[in-house]
Amino acid sequence: MQGLLAQRSSCTISRSNIATKRSIARITPVVRATTDAAAPKPKPKAPQQMLVYSPPHPLIKHWLAILRSEYTPSPMFRSACAELGRLLIYEAVREFLPTMEQQVQTPLGEVADATLVDPSRPIKIIPILRAGLVLLEQAGQVVPFQETYHVGYVRDPATLQASAYLNKLPARLSPEDLFLITDPMLATGGTIVQVIDDIVARGGRAENIRVVAVVVAPPALKKLADRYPGLKVYTAMIDEQVNERGYIVPGLGDAGDRAYGTPH
Ligand code: URA
Repeated sequence: MQGLLAQRSSCTISRSNIATKRSIARITPVVRATTDAAAPKPKPKAPQQMLVYSPPHPLIKHWLAILRSEYTPSPMFRSACAELGRLLIYEAVREFLPTMEQQVQTPLGEVADATLVDPSRPIKIIPILRAGLVLLEQAGQVVPFQETYHVGYVRDPATLQASAYLNKLPARLSPEDLFLITDPMLATGGTIVQVIDDIVARGGRAENIRVVAVVVAPPALKKLADRYPGLKVYTAMIDEQVNERGYIVPGLGDAGDRAYGTPH
């Protein structure tokens, strides 16, 4: 076979490549290529890395602890999740919100240079129901201009496959659109990958997506890093594993049931 014989993308996620010191984990899919002797050398490409950012803030740790505790009652779980969402969204939009340079007149009769959030490019917020809704409850306080597009997915408890039951995304999206997806738990990654696939299929770009999650687990991160290396994920914690029922361990249980007080 001429040229590239095999090309494979893989990514190892372990404690060692999840930097805890600066709380930034860059996850790079490793591309291995086998070529025959006559094959032209492929041009070196700058590697794209998925960024997983866990802000080292005591308030984030505090609200995560409240969410983890099995003794936290539902109303408190909900408000802790909303608060955590506010803090994580604040971080996620730090270098993401489009701004414009203007001038404003101050009460002292002076003109001051001013940077304002650009209202012409509202962030498209996509909560994954149910619990993604709680995470964005206070988003309005940190994102001045936004639009909301709900999506709902349900997981088959036997196969753990997610399927959509609601999708309010517009049929066409622009490559310039900016997206913020909220989903408290990224466990196996099945749902979040489907949502991003859908955004890309409608014309959006993965590089313009920020994902906000309370807790993420290695299977979801591996899936996302392999498929969308340019993605940025903001989370309170990277947990160790996912159990056979698809729950993150140690995790915080079923986020939707706990937020809404649904008995299970
Ligand atoms: N969804 C949840 O609500 N909890 C988990 O642990 C995993 C997915």
